[in-house]
Amino acid sequence: MCGIVGHLGPQNSVELVLEGLKRLEYRGYDSAGVSFIDERDVLQNYKKSGKLENLIGFLGEGPFVARSCIGHTRWATHGEVNDTNSHPHSNDQLSMVHNGIIENAPALKSELSSEGFEFKSQTDTEVFLGLMTINLKKGMSFREAVTASFNKVEGNSAFVLIDPDTSDIYAVKRCAPLVCGINEGQSEVLVSSDPYALAGLVDKLYFPEDEVVCHLSSGNKNLLNFYELDGSKTTRYLSKIQDLSAAVSDKGDFDHYMHKEIHEQPELIRSLTHYYFAGEGVPALEKAIKEKPENIHLVACGTAYYAGLVIKDHIEKLNRIHCHAELGSEFRYKNPILGKKDLGLFISQSGETADTLAAQSLCKTNNLKTMSIVNVDGSTLFRDCDSNLLIRAGVEVGVASTKAFTQQVLTGMIYSAAMNGILDNPDRKKDMAAKFSLLAERVDKILSEENKIESIASEIHNYKGYFYTGRGVYYPIALEGALKLKEIAYVHAEGYASGELKHGPIALIDEEMVNVALVGPELYDKTISNIQEIKARKGIIVTIGPRGDEHLKEISDHFIELDFDGLDELSPLYVNIVDQLLAYFIAKFKGTDIDKPRNLAKSVTVE
Ligand code: AGP
Repeated sequence: MCGIVGHLGPQNSVELVLEGLKRLEYRGYDSAGVSFIDERDVLQNYKKSGKLENLIGFLGEGPFVARSCIGHTRWATHGEVNDTNSHPHSNDQLSMVHNGIIENAPALKSELSSEGFEFKSQTDTEVFLGLMTINLKKGMSFREAVTASFNKVEGNSAFVLIDPDTSDIYAVKRCAPLVCGINEGQSEVLVSSDPYALAGLVDKLYFPEDEVVCHLSSGNKNLLNFYELDGSKTTRYLSKIQDLSAAVSDKGDFDHYMHKEIHEQPELIRSLTHYYFAGEGVPALEKAIKEKPENIHLVACGTAYYAGLVIKDHIEKLNRIHCHAELGSEFRYKNPILGKKDLGLFISQSGETADTLAAQSLCKTNNLKTMSIVNVDGSTLFRDCDSNLLIRAGVEVGVASTKAFTQQVLTGMIYSAAMNGILDNPDRKKDMAAKFSLLAERVDKILSEENKIESIASEIHNYKGYFYTGRGVYYPIALEGALKLKEIAYVHAEGYASGELKHGPIALIDEEMVNVALVGPELYDKTISNIQEIKARKGIIVTIGPRGDEHLKEISDHFIELDFDGLDELSPLYVNIVDQLLAYFIAKFKGTDIDKPRNLAKSVTVE
């Protein structure tokens, strides 16, 4: 999705905004641009299709002396990828950038054209430029024009604008990510679509609610002011100390963020355990389990949905509460049966996924309590839910989610155990904490031997297609493993319940197909017979299974041995680490853009 960064202050705005846009590259984009007020107080606008380096090349040698700048990385929704459709969109009265979709753009476009506004681009965004231009011409102040224009547009959007007369920056949003930040020492103020862009640049973050106009002003001591659409001042924003250091923005010794993030998991597992068993997460957990729901509607998208399938299994087995796992994009259109004592449980790394937010809003409208299992503190989902369990995964830069999946599942299991009273029993709590610690240890071991997985990847990275098969709780892991491979290696991969292959898909099996069989201690015999069915048809068998199993070793072309003992319900997460590494190394051999895969965005903030 589009990335937005704005800066106002004594330091060089253009450099800071470009740095912020670089940090947002992971979100996926196809063009970039900046607008700034130069040292002669003239509004400059530079924009270029392609990667950021195209824009930087176009900007030419700096330094650009500017104290006010807005920048944008565009993920095209309306209008092809070209320089004209790139943001910012500007004229001599203003410059602006946009994230989201203006649903009523066609109607507004004909209205504006009839009022003499000439469109240059194919974008819906330019409609807002037209509204602003006409409102300013009517003599409105800049903030009044922002309010009047915003009242006319429908749909989920965030707008950030620069006023060339004052160099001030304005921002407003509806159901789209937006965050402001202040660096008191430097008397600087910034705005972005993602807190990660502000990491290390500001002391405090401010998350405005919908339809709050943010005014980043250079004129007076109040660097940052918030207004309702009627012009009155407001406190409808959440503020919090910035806890992200600039250090998050480097890969360290790793070739890719994804690889670094896979390796962060053992430490994250340990810190999550402390956070909810004895740390500052305890009050949030106690709040989350205050009311025991009759049913749970567990809604998410993509990897977060697969995490939800594992959590569903855990909650139903332990608490015997019916858990409906739903895809966000489906849930809102299926007229779900929602009981007043049901819980809407939403899982999301970004907390900004449009389909998940819409599902949460549907539950809220039906008076359900809603809860999130979310990574980004202060995100829209975080602010809209009655209670929240943070997954404490840190910033996840890789578009393909890895550590967030593990932390989502573990947080869901902690919620399930807390609901069951396990954490109130010292012995059972200790046992659970010991199991988490054992998982971290076992993951450490897999990571220390990742070269074994890398060598298998070198042998299987050029096949026609890949099946991932698993039974019970390994079925969601098969789905997630296949998604990882699809996302970053651009190969066809499909997760399947082991027992289902014989009902049709086995027709695809031949010597060009790889089957990654996930074999946990549970349902062992049945899974073996499924492997035999594939072997009989010359499929390539990669098995992830219990260490020392001679039979598995004999029937597999490649056998990755794991130590399952003592992990119990955590075993699927253990297997998933192998899937993450397998996908990573296959993609690496294929030379794809692992951290910024084609066509993908880190957070899908449009439907
Ligand atoms: C995960 O690898 C994908 N990038 C994608 O499926 C993602 O999980 C999905 O878009 C949901 O995102 P969220 O967790 O931020 O809501």
